[in-house]
Amino acid sequence: MDLRIFKDKQEVAEQFSAYFVEQTKGKEAFHVALSGGSTPKIVFDVLAEKFAGQVDWSKVHFYWGDERCVPPTDDESNYKMTVEHLFSKIEVPQENINRILGEKDPNPEAMRYANLLEIDLDRVEEVPQFDLVILGMGDDGHTASIFPHEIELWDSEDHCVVATHPESGQKRVSLNGKVINTSKEVAFLVTGASKAEKVEAVIEKTEGFEQYPASLVQPTSGNLVWFLDEEAASKLNQN
Ligand code: 6PG
Repeated sequence: MDLRIFKDKQEVAEQFSAYFVEQTKGKEAFHVALSGGSTPKIVFDVLAEKFAGQVDWSKVHFYWGDERCVPPTDDESNYKMTVEHLFSKIEVPQENINRILGEKDPNPEAMRYANLLEIDLDRVEEVPQFDLVILGMGDDGHTASIFPHEIELWDSEDHCVVATHPESGQKRVSLNGKVINTSKEVAFLVTGASKAEKVEAVIEKTEGFEQYPASLVQPTSGNLVWFLDEEAASKLNQN
């Protein structure tokens, strides 16, 4: 377990950006699945504003690990957030951006997205393989858009599933567990005191950890790296 703990969100963003630069080095094509939510905002800002010159963006192919079933102009859209914090600040070919078409609710395009993954990515036993999947973790232990109340979606045979947010009922499209765990690298970006309890449960496998989808992130042959700030790591034994 590669656990990297930093002072605050800003340092997590800087350290992750340096890691991202390293991961893309020398790659002819680098396929990355982005996460949504709020943590990536500062990460994308730092990546774009401090590290952009160290990445050949023409080689980076962007996907999302999950997306809300809303138009790309909606403030809930992970795509919109990524445009604001990353794509608006770097030169990346439009064809390298593989947006999940989330306009419809529920999104019948989910399967098309899965097919798209199969066209553009190498496959390991029929499972699309990313170079990097970036994940966050919710206060409830969800990751991507696999929530505890429908954790069975993690094991779906479909590479992309249509999920439902437990409070808002919002429909979302999410990669399933097999695609996430087939990735060469998986990086968890988790910050803030509200995550500390679930970080402890998932990393130290405390009582009931199996109910949290984040605990199912166990790359079959790839590396799993946790980027945490001190608040999120505050309940871990080594702290
Ligand atoms: C999303 C995300 C989701 C997110 C977690 C953590 O679409 O919202 O992919 O899984 O990573 O909810 O979000 P924060 O970083 O905002 O805490």
